[in-house]
Amino acid sequence: MRILIVGASGQVGSRLVEQARAEGHQPVGAYRSHPVEVPGIESVALDKSKPAEVERVVRDARPDVVIDTGALHNVDYCETHPDEALAVNRDGTGLLSRAAAARGARFLFVSTDFVFDGSGHPPYSESDPPHPQSVYARSKLEGEQAALAGNPNAAVARPSVIYSWVPMAATIASSSGKPLNFASWFLRQLADGKPARIVTDQVASPTLADDLAGALLALAGSTRVGVFHTAGATPLSRFDFCRKLVERFGLPPELLTPTDSASLAQAAARPRNSSLVSHRLERDVGYSMLDLDSALDRLSRSVRSDPGLPPSLRH
Ligand SMILES: NC(=O)c1ccc[n+]([C@@H]2O[C@H](COP(=O)([O-])OP(=O)(O)OC[C@H]3O[C@@H](n4cnc5c(N)ncnc54)[C@H](OP(=O)(O)O)[C@@H]3O)[C@@H](O)[C@H]2O)c1
Repeated sequence: MRILIVGASGQVGSRLVEQARAEGHQPVGAYRSHPVEVPGIESVALDKSKPAEVERVVRDARPDVVIDTGALHNVDYCETHPDEALAVNRDGTGLLSRAAAARGARFLFVSTDFVFDGSGHPPYSESDPPHPQSVYARSKLEGEQAALAGNPNAAVARPSVIYSWVPMAATIASSSGKPLNFASWFLRQLADGKPARIVTDQVASPTLADDLAGALLALAGSTRVGVFHTAGATPLSRFDFCRKLVERFGLPPELLTPTDSASLAQAAARPRNSSLVSHRLERDVGYSMLDLDSALDRLSRSVRSDPGLPPSLRH
């Protein structure tokens, strides 16, 4: 398949480019401001909120499938910049979905577990009603609606706290407004001997970026439409997730201390529990998301293959 990957310079998009190529597909990588330089891969600049750019890039890429991972997803930034958040996450998604439909291409949109408010009985399935608590969450939910309304062959994937190892030598920058992913930030913090205060009262389903890329490629090859949860199979709090990372990488446990959401004074509300079950993906598409131990085995292989690794992470 020819696959146009929007957000190819990002955490998930870069994994998708690699895995799509490894599976024998032809990826075309679209970046916003950090050019994608992978030998043998076509790449193109694209701001998904610009209608003329979307038209041109989708037409020229001649994709069978468009996978949209591009977003403004710094949750606190979105809270104070709602117009920008909606222009990218909702309107830009609609533009891409319709442009894909115009050339008969399938469309996949990467959304978020934050569409839920934490009430009821998480972990949530696709039939649970969303109730966004922040501008970011609303912009992504409305992005989902725009994706599905704009293309009869569209699916939405909802991951949760996406993580991966970012090599020490890599530049950490993205126009999503999001800094280093949570697990890479935490591992580097402790490896540098610095403490980390982590919330015990936010539960999610941490999702390994490589596993999400695998799920998206499985969805790309399927004809199923609608919403799919695509999240790691083990729900746990951010604190417990970090505790697992401390154990796995032999880091000093005393550097990890508990805190709660109230003491962080974040601009945007976060759901207390946005964990997800991904049974529909397994049932309808035949892809099973990894449990935490298996995902950490894969993470650990990427960490240990980094030539720039500090000695404190070389256990
Ligand atoms: N990270 C998480 O914990 C998490 C959790 C749940 C859901 N999600 C969702 O998962 C998706 C992927 O996240 P990620 O961690 O891979 O993010 P990321 O590493 O920050 O990458 C975001 C990508 O979006 C691109 N981008 C930003 N603004 C754009 C625009 N206006 N037009 C086109 N592309 C634009 C960036 O391009 P440049 O860098 O080239 O500027 C970058 O390639 C996002 O949709 C996010 O909402 C993330």
